[in-house]
Amino acid sequence: MGWFIHHVNIEAHDVPQSVAFYRDVLGLKQGEWNYPEGVELGLGVDQLAVFGTYNRGIHIVHPDAAFQKRHGLLHNPTVGGHFAINVPDAEAVKQRLQKAGHVVSDAGTYAMAGVRQLYVWDPFYNLVEINAIVDETGGPRPANGEAHAKRIEREGWHLHHINIDAHRVATASQFYASLIGLTEAEWQAPPDCPIADITGNREALVLFGNDDNRGLHVVRPQPDFAKRNNLDHNPTIGGHFAIQVDNLDAVAKRLDDAGLIYSDAGCYAMAGLRQLYVYDPSMNLVEINGSI
Ligand SMILES: [Fe+2]
Ligand SMILES: [Fe+2]
Repeated sequence: MGWFIHHVNIEAHDVPQSVAFYRDVLGLKQGEWNYPEGVELGLGVDQLAVFGTYNRGIHIVHPDAAFQKRHGLLHNPTVGGHFAINVPDAEAVKQRLQKAGHVVSDAGTYAMAGVRQLYVWDPFYNLVEINAIVDETGGPRPANGEAHAKRIEREGWHLHHINIDAHRVATASQFYASLIGLTEAEWQAPPDCPIADITGNREALVLFGNDDNRGLHVVRPQPDFAKRNNLDHNPTIGGHFAIQVDNLDAVAKRLDDAGLIYSDAGCYAMAGLRQLYVYDPSMNLVEINGSI
């Protein structure tokens, strides 16, 4: 069985406002949170939302300073966002992390039906959730060994990639490969790629996942990236996540209608994909891409 990006968790100061953005501007349909039986997280309806099914996809959470202590965790997954990697064997990952000296929170099955969750910081303090499906209430397991197998949600979108920044890409990559068990793939750049100095440089960018650039992108922050590429956003600093949609023109029109500033990078980094960047209402950077 393969691993896959299970969800991205983003912090929102006003969850209903963020829900309106993802629903009305990006065009996604809000899902329903699946709690384990009898569990209450202590988060109100205006503090937690999900887009996707089986708790996969996008989690929007209001920061809760008391969450960590309430659940006996060493990390607070409601503050500052995180992303989650689903692996076939969470216990094996936990053992490897602890043996290597990493601090792990083992939350058990506490927030999502049928899913065991661990939390750990990567070497550059990106918060990573490692989870595993423990029974059928956690949703279907991947049918084959493909890395980050594509999962199409309603309205035809899917979680395309997570991008995290790392000051030393090799150090971060070592962590994700040897401890988490992710598999590297070959970056597919478009012809005449204007950022070929990055896409072809393993010290600047490493891809874990699938050969069509889906999965996890580990990137070295590039302070001049936005200027060099005539963008209003710098996707190499602070991380972002990307969804792929069926109709990118329709999203662009709704962004225009809403008067939001977005960067239309065209097809500049990944073969066959046009990419837009925009901040959500809580200044989380979101990439929306579509096939060309
Ligand atoms: Fe999470
Ligand atoms: Fe990206």
